[in-house]
Amino acid sequence: EILQRKTLQELYQRLTKSFEHLLWHSARGQEALAYLYKRGLSEENIRTFRVGYGMSGYQELYQFLLKRGYSEPFLAESGLFSKKHPMYSIFRDRIIFPLINSAGEVVAYSGRAMPDAKADAPKYINSPETVLFSKRKELYGMGQAKESIRKEEQFILCEGAMDVMALHQMGYTQAVAPLGSAFTLEQAELVRRFASSALLLMDGDAAGQKAIHQSAMICEESGVSSLRAVRLPANKDPSECLEYGQVDLLTKSIKHASLYFDFLLQEQFKEIPKDNIDQQMRASLPIFKYISIVPSPVRRESYLKMLAGK
Ligand code: GTP
Ligand code: MN
Ligand code: MN
Ligand code: MN
Ligand code: MN
Repeated sequence: EILQRKTLQELYQRLTKSFEHLLWHSARGQEALAYLYKRGLSEENIRTFRVGYGMSGYQELYQFLLKRGYSEPFLAESGLFSKKHPMYSIFRDRIIFPLINSAGEVVAYSGRAMPDAKADAPKYINSPETVLFSKRKELYGMGQAKESIRKEEQFILCEGAMDVMALHQMGYTQAVAPLGSAFTLEQAELVRRFASSALLLMDGDAAGQKAIHQSAMICEESGVSSLRAVRLPANKDPSECLEYGQVDLLTKSIKHASLYFDFLLQEQFKEIPKDNIDQQMRASLPIFKYISIVPSPVRRESYLKMLAGK
C-alpha cells in the first residue's frame, strides 16, 4: 500500500500538470478558461489554485495513462475512473480543481461541468476515497491557505472550490471548504492546528443556513475560541459576490460578522413572546444542547449568561 500511495501521488502530480496544460493550451480548455474569467477569477488566481481541464474523450485519460506504463488494476484504484465503465474518466470534459493538502500534495480533484454540459449532468463530481484521499479529513484550499490561517489566527469556512478561490482573490486567503461532505470534526481538528478562531461563510440559501448551524457545532466541539458567522443575502454565495461586483458588500459583511451564538439566540427567540416563560424554556432546549458540547467551562459559562440575558 505504501508503494501504491507513492505511485498514485506521482501520477496525480503529473496529471495535475497535464490538466493545467490542457486548460491553457487546448481549444476546449480555452472555453473552460473563458468561463473562469467570466466568473471573475484572475489568471494569477487560476494558476495559484492549479485549475485545469480534464480532457474531452471518454477513454482519453485511460489510454494516456496506459501508454505511460500504469497497469489496469492500478488505474482501477486510482479514483479517476467510473466504477461502471472502468475506462471512462469521471473528470471527462470538466473544469478540474485539484485539492492541495497542507503538505502541498494534490490528493483529490473536484470536477465542474462545463457551462454547455447537458442539464442532467451533475454540476460537480469529486474524487472518491482512495489511498491518498479521505474526504472527511481534507479541506479544499488547505495548501494555499495554511500560512495565512496561521498568520490571521483565523480560518474562513465556505461551501465550495469556487467560493474558496473567490475569497482568496478578494484578500481572504484563509478560506477553505470541505469537498463533497459536511464539515467534520477531523477537518476541524486539522485547521485548529493553525488557528483557534473561525468565521462561517456559507451560501445565503436554506442549505447554506443549515450548513452554518451544522458547522458551528463541529467548531465548538473542536474547541474554537471565537466563532463568527456571516449571513449573506438570499441565494448569494461568495463567488457570486465577486462575479457581480459586490466585493464591498462581502467585505462589510465579513468585517461586521456577528458572534454565531448571538445569531443563534436571535433566530431561536425571534417569534417567542417576551412574557411566555413556557415557550422561552422550550426554545432554550436546543441552545442548552449546543452549550453542552462546548469543552471549555469558561466559554459555557459565558454562553449561559448570554442565554439568561435573552
Ligand atoms: P458554482 O456554480 O460552481 O459556483 O457552484 P454552486 O455555487 O452551485 O455550488 P454549490 O453551492 O451548489 O455547492 C458547493 C459545493 O458542493 C461544491 O463545490 C461541490 O463540492 C458540492 N456540490 C455541488 N453540486 C454538487 C453535485 O452535483 N454533486 C456533488 N457530488 N457535489 C456537489
Ligand atoms: Mn448548486
Ligand atoms: Mn449551495
Ligand atoms: Mn454556492
Ligand atoms: Mn457558486
